[in-house]
Amino acid sequence: PALELHPSALAAEEACARRVAAVLEDRPAANLGLATGRTMIGVYRALRSSGVSLARATTFNLDEYRDLPSDHPASFRTFMAEQLFGPAGIPGDRVHFPDVRDGAAAEYEARIVAAGGLDLQLLGIGVNGHIGFNEPGSTVASRTRTVDLSAETRLANAAQFHDRDVPHQAVTMGIATILEARSIVLVATGETKAAALAAALNGPMTPSCPASFLRRHLDVTIIADPAAASRLS
Ligand code: F6R
Repeated sequence: PALELHPSALAAEEACARRVAAVLEDRPAANLGLATGRTMIGVYRALRSSGVSLARATTFNLDEYRDLPSDHPASFRTFMAEQLFGPAGIPGDRVHFPDVRDGAAAEYEARIVAAGGLDLQLLGIGVNGHIGFNEPGSTVASRTRTVDLSAETRLANAAQFHDRDVPHQAVTMGIATILEARSIVLVATGETKAAALAAALNGPMTPSCPASFLRRHLDVTIIADPAAASRLS
């Protein structure tokens, strides 16, 4: 993967937003694969202030919690509505999330394919090396499915649930789904991501670090700040 090192988290987030804006300038009706999480708050803030139009884009989010009402304050649908879709005015019929109902996960794959595939997939990285909610143990052949969240991931996201009732399961695009995107950008900022980023880029390609499988893709850019890049060799 191409590694872009930026002097601060803010600069990394802005660089990621510029990548998204460049795709949209080139292709206003692009299909974007989107992520949620703290890292993306800064990315979407920069994207909103870039002035680029998302009015013709189609979006597919990576993942969503199970067993939450979709209007729950900590759902990824709520996050996206607040951080991007509402402010950018993306029509609701072009916004997609994995279907969390039993047996419906495969439909998501079909919808992405029917839309023509993803032009760009945005990713963050978990402290355990997850991408999407592909926790350690996820194989390179994995597809959209229901997964059990690790204790580590539930703890990392507990604040959004005021430290209680964090869901135990989510539906996530699989590693194979992610690798089908035409280009991928992963943003990692802060020291808590340093070990995961080093394992992803310098360690073996293994289900123990799902992000390591990104090295199989020909168009991956890793955007990092100095803290996240501090353990790279
Ligand atoms: C979110 C997602 C996750 C996050 C990762 C990093 O849709 O799929 O993989 O990207 O957990 O989260 P933050 O940015 O909160 O550190």
